Amino acid sequence: MKKGRDILIAIYPGSFDPVTNGHLDIIIRGSKIFDGLIVGLLKNPNKKPLFTVEEREEMMVEATKDLTNVTVEIFQGLLVQFARQKKCRVILRGLRAISDYEYETQIAITNRKICPEIETFLLPTSTEYSYLNSTVVKEIAQFGGCVRGLVPECVERKLRKKFQVEGR
Ligand code: PNS
Repeated sequence: MKKGRDILIAIYPGSFDPVTNGHLDIIIRGSKIFDGLIVGLLKNPNKKPLFTVEEREEMMVEATKDLTNVTVEIFQGLLVQFARQKKCRVILRGLRAISDYEYETQIAITNRKICPEIETFLLPTSTEYSYLNSTVVKEIAQFGGCVRGLVPECVERKLRKKFQVEGR
């Protein structure tokens, strides 16, 4: 066995528009595996998210406030460049179903091609969240459905506010 090791920091990247309990499941479990976990919120100029990057950050910070080794950061551009800058040696991604596998391995292989020293760690989501994604959550909330149990409470409140205001 290797005696002692460097601190192992992972990055968990995504759009998180908004963060769901499925994401949180991965964050909580990831925070127990790695010494530190950076949640990397992508500011993507090619996408038009429901929530601004600042709103997404605020919700993520609130949802992860009790996890002492988790921090939230916004990034733009290539993930591996940001990961390298932050000294992350691992990219953490959740795997919901077999349908995610192709997309996730494609990203993982691409990232490894451009940055071989950073490995991707695919963690299967807990089964109760295997159907859940941000798009489904937004659609339920948009048409007045209840998203309790699917997202953290702060997100539930924000969604209600967003669609109440926009629905007027
Ligand atoms: O939550 P998402 O939208 O599935 O996350 C996708 C994400 C953020 C992991 C991916 O789009 C990404 O890493 N984007 C940054 C640009 C990049 O590095 N592209 C090359 C690898 S695909």
